[in-house]
Amino acid sequence: MIAATAMAMGGFVSGALWNDTDGKHINAHGGGIMYHDGTYYWYGECKGDLTYRSPGVGWECYRTETGGVSCYSSKDLYNWKFEGVVLEPDTTFSRSDTHPTMVVERPKVVYNESTGKFVMWMHIDSPNYGKASAGVAVSDSPTGKFTYIKSFRPNGQMARDLTVFKDDDGKAYLVYSSEENRTMHISQLTPDYLNTVGTYTRNFVDKSREAPAMFKRGGKYYIVSSGCTGWSPNEADYAVADNVTGPYTQFGNPCKGKDADKTFYGQSTFVIPVQGMRDTFIIMFDRWNKRDLIDSRYLWLPVTFEGDNMCVNWTESWSLNDFIVETK
Ligand code: GAL
Repeated sequence: MIAATAMAMGGFVSGALWNDTDGKHINAHGGGIMYHDGTYYWYGECKGDLTYRSPGVGWECYRTETGGVSCYSSKDLYNWKFEGVVLEPDTTFSRSDTHPTMVVERPKVVYNESTGKFVMWMHIDSPNYGKASAGVAVSDSPTGKFTYIKSFRPNGQMARDLTVFKDDDGKAYLVYSSEENRTMHISQLTPDYLNTVGTYTRNFVDKSREAPAMFKRGGKYYIVSSGCTGWSPNEADYAVADNVTGPYTQFGNPCKGKDADKTFYGQSTFVIPVQGMRDTFIIMFDRWNKRDLIDSRYLWLPVTFEGDNMCVNWTESWSLNDFIVETK
């Protein structure tokens, strides 16, 4: 077993403890990466340190108090500096969306060139996941603090697991599991990225997909997703489309190798386009530890392609140097 410190030397070790530059395990689950002005920013769920089962909920609703959204920065994707909790929980008002008893999950941040603001979208839910809403917050700086604006059901539709995708033309899209997680909606955001436009497409109808991670390669749009089994792993799927809002064609599980049918005991959260390297993508998975959620681990694996087909091979440890094919 390669020690976690291998990370600091310039490698990824699947499922190892991953310490930040202060030596503390990174607490940024269900995360996403934004690249801005030469720096990568990793935003994720800041989990409280006590996991408990949500009272009165029939399914395995393990959770922690919400600690808000944390942010880490890095130049090389291996070494991450803690930038603080950039969206703080609201401890003053028990009915606030970001109160510690609420659910704040899967935060994603995009920069809006026209307003100069950083916009964060996240899944906001009540302790029993009945609220099924999307929340939005805004900041003048990538490291916050973010000001929480509101939660709502986008286009009047339920939203749980979600991501935001910003296209090359500056338009951004909210991708969210809707209709009781049965169908995934994609809705363009308004030019300021603070709202959905009022229309949406229905994707993977009745297929119950969640944990969306979206990226673009060679003019095509990809969505990696998981099935709906709570914190327990299941089989990933990827889908490809010529247009950002679909229609998407599903191609099945991109994972290959040990435990591929369980997505290596992970669940998709984001795909990182590596800057300065052509067609180089890293897929981020959370390996949830449902009984001790703060100790959930990260699997970051390289994505490879054959034509338009994507593949994620199980790799115990690797670095971008193993993977460089061509630089831009
Ligand atoms: C998963 C979802 C996670 C979290 C969990 C709660 O299906 O992807 O983000 O909401 O359920 O059980």
